[in-house]
Amino acid sequence: MIKKVLAIETSCDDTSVSIVGHDGQVFALMSANQDLAHSPFGGIVPEIASRNHSQTLIPLIDEMLKKSNTSWDDIDGIAVTNRPGLIGSLIVGVVTAKTISQIKNLPIIGVNHLEGHILAPFLYDEKTPKSEDLKPPFVALAVSGGHTSIYHVRDFYDYEVLGTTRDDAAGEAFDKFGKLVGLGFPGGVKVDQKSKGGNPKAFDFPRSMLGDDELAMSFSGLKSSAQRLLSTMNQEQINENMSDLCASFQEAIVDVLMAKLDLATNKTKIKRVVITGGVSANSRLRQRAEEWAKAKNLTLHIPPIKYCTDNAAMIGYVGIRRMNKGETHKMDLAPSPSSLESDFR
Ligand code: KG4
Ligand code: ZN
Repeated sequence: MIKKVLAIETSCDDTSVSIVGHDGQVFALMSANQDLAHSPFGGIVPEIASRNHSQTLIPLIDEMLKKSNTSWDDIDGIAVTNRPGLIGSLIVGVVTAKTISQIKNLPIIGVNHLEGHILAPFLYDEKTPKSEDLKPPFVALAVSGGHTSIYHVRDFYDYEVLGTTRDDAAGEAFDKFGKLVGLGFPGGVKVDQKSKGGNPKAFDFPRSMLGDDELAMSFSGLKSSAQRLLSTMNQEQINENMSDLCASFQEAIVDVLMAKLDLATNKTKIKRVVITGGVSANSRLRQRAEEWAKAKNLTLHIPPIKYCTDNAAMIGYVGIRRMNKGETHKMDLAPSPSSLESDFR
């Protein structure tokens, strides 16, 4: 049995490494975020992301092994995100993982980043108790800067995409709005903070595709509407209305996410729900989701933030589960910007 894997995640702009046990125990997790490098550009610059990964990854692995008192003899395999993501960023992780696998003679597995997000609530550590009552089937909303999808997790390795955004991800919309109102990048967390005390009904933003009986989502109309509104205001007026603007914009996103999640649980009749991805840190989404789950008598699992945002621990858990059922990859493991057809139904 594979007892511990070294996991590597470099699919976007966070360099993250972790050591994970076969049942989801996280022995170590270290991440280096690149917000400072990208913020002057108001968004992620792929070339900068891959260059930073290549400079950071190996020192980060060394530091993690040292800090956690782990020797290479304790590691039984390597798990690495190889899809989907920014291709230049994925290449750094995959090439590094393959090199380590060759030098240390360890088996390797390539992991789908989204499966990592979906199974993140199974991670536990000294401070985070194990979610004993969570098991498939469940409905999972993975919502971040790069993805916004709702899955029916029928079983481990059996995921149906119920609905996904047709254009922008919800986190991307938060970030673009943050930039437009002058809060910098990434704006999501700042929009959340500024919303406190604001009136969510002060400004009327559109909720796209709400009436539909399908689970697809769209956030680009919301972004354009915000752009149009803000072009009629100067920075002083924006600052004066900042809380109301942020609260109203946030409410529009949360309304859409909650409506689609509600529809997904109605359609599947599933009583267990997981929300994961960076946007699950949003305080309004958490509050609304908790109230909704209580009212509908559903069990809601939102992992702690460190396992919701992009992290290598979730990749390690998927990797070790799959390795223990006999899956490994060979040295022709390649990065891919998109998921494989076989990853989801
Ligand atoms: O999962 P993550 O770290 O990386 C991606 O895969 O994108 O998610 C980052 C996203 C960013 O768009 C960020 O603005 C958003 O999550 N985010 C938030 C909050 N915290 C992070 N959005 C709204 N409210 C927050 N509190
Ligand atoms: Zn992600």
